[in-house]
Amino acid sequence: MRTPLIAGNWKMNGSAERVRAFGEAFAGDRLPASLDVAVIPPFPYLDQARRAFARTPLALGAQTLSPEPAGAHTGEVSAAMLAEFGVAYVLVGHSERRQHHGETDADAYRRVCAALHAGLVPVLCVGETLKQREAGATRDAVLGQLAAVLKPLDADRRRRLVIAYEPVWAIGTGRTATPEQAQATMKDIRTWLESLDSDLAQTLRLLYGGSMKADNAAELLAQPDIDGGLVGGASLQVDEFFAICQSAG
Ligand code: G3P
Repeated sequence: MRTPLIAGNWKMNGSAERVRAFGEAFAGDRLPASLDVAVIPPFPYLDQARRAFARTPLALGAQTLSPEPAGAHTGEVSAAMLAEFGVAYVLVGHSERRQHHGETDADAYRRVCAALHAGLVPVLCVGETLKQREAGATRDAVLGQLAAVLKPLDADRRRRLVIAYEPVWAIGTGRTATPEQAQATMKDIRTWLESLDSDLAQTLRLLYGGSMKADNAAELLAQPDIDGGLVGGASLQVDEFFAICQSAG
């Protein structure tokens, strides 16, 4: 009942050549039909990607957005601009934004509202640090981040989100959470969602992110509460990303 979603977050990587290669490799209908796939390149490549992906099933995502609608915010990009460029998804609250750009839960909430207002699907990223995991505080950390954004939203708006669970210690480290570790936290997320709204718990897609690769994707994606992946490093190589998508079908 939940269509799997694989999203490739290129972070600050990419080139016109890489966009072109993805457009070529994903052209046609070679992917499982019941699968959503998105590529999330840096801003400058969005327009090129929109054209290059026209004959592919690839949807477009953006890595961040401004919470403001318009005005004197040098360097920022609004939700409406992203929507105008055909962007479907936007990452919010990624741990790199939280760690290196000081983004808080309150900022994530404002960005989610801005994205929803423009008709974008926010992919809300949550996850615990290594210190929190070692202190046995994973559940509290993750559910706290979720509650700060989901609780103030009404039921209609909550349903339009995607949640990505990305343990910070697994991001870009090659140290993937085991399928059991990922499933345990994602089950906690699903159970918490259930207490908020039982329909929501059944329909909201939960992605796992953190060193997902072609050789571990199938095992992670086979877990009952994992509905897809948010892939960083392994989404940069077209063959590897394609293989991850195939294992989600
Ligand atoms: O957003 C994706 C992410 O942070 C995971 O990155 O390189 O560990 O797959 P990576």
